[in-house]
Amino acid sequence: MKYIIIGGTSGIGLATAKMAVEAGHAVVSAGRDPAKFAAAQLVGATTVQLDASDSGSVQRFFRAQGHLDHLVLCVSGSSGAGLFRELDLDDLRNGFEGKFWPQISCAKAALPTLNPAGSITFVGAISSRALKPGTAGLAAINAALEAMVPILASELRPTRVNAVVPGVVDTPWWSRVPEAAKKELFEQLASEVAVGRVGNPEDLASAIMFVTQNTFVTGTILDCDGGWKLKNA
Ligand SMILES: NC(=O)c1ccc[n+]([C@@H]2O[C@H](COP(=O)([O-])OP(=O)(O)OC[C@H]3O[C@@H](n4cnc5c(N)ncnc54)[C@H](OP(=O)(O)O)[C@@H]3O)[C@@H](O)[C@H]2O)c1
Repeated sequence: MKYIIIGGTSGIGLATAKMAVEAGHAVVSAGRDPAKFAAAQLVGATTVQLDASDSGSVQRFFRAQGHLDHLVLCVSGSSGAGLFRELDLDDLRNGFEGKFWPQISCAKAALPTLNPAGSITFVGAISSRALKPGTAGLAAINAALEAMVPILASELRPTRVNAVVPGVVDTPWWSRVPEAAKKELFEQLASEVAVGRVGNPEDLASAIMFVTQNTFVTGTILDCDGGWKLKNA
């Protein structure tokens, strides 16, 4: 099977690429920064430079790739967080440009060459339903993706469409937070979830592999969040 993983050069996407290679699949991992390709040490996969926010490049990329069986969308933005009173709406717009639109644009561009018996997997975020002050913007971006999943699963059948929804996961996404502050934040967040730890990229990669490989799963939003929703139960 051929996997294309957009945002497959770091964190959750990279762990998924490695797991798919180990399982014997052909893997193409795409990202913007070639420096990350070398750092990724992704043996047995092809890495391709792509800015998924550029729709022309996205069209050309999928035309050049040809046939694929599974599309995994791990692209992330980092904008759009903050308390609503202080939230800069341009920052929130950038958040949609960095995550919502690239994931949707890749899903649409892949359709002509996607195996009808294959799958599309979006990667959302539990901020969509975490009800945490300061995350209304992130909730909007991720809830928009989640809302589309069951409808796309119905429209695009027999192609399966799912979303995997991470809680807090220790990936390079957090590298913008200074190390000491990140350690403290992770300890705090770990204490708030049922499993008592933050996630690792492999937790999410195995959830992604599950929804891509299990041909009885479609239209599903799979939370892989350490039990965030049990916080107040
Ligand atoms: N880590 C968490 O705690 C967490 C929590 C909830 C949800 N998530 C979601 O999980 C997904 C994966 O995040 P992660 O933590 O694995 O982040 P990450 O380590 O920063 O990886 C993000 C990947 O996306 C690529 N990317 C970003 N913008 C791109 C673009 N325009 N075109 C092509 N590639 C692009 C990055 O490479 P380049 O920068 O080189 O392009 C990188 O390969 C994201 O959707 C994120 O929102 C993560």
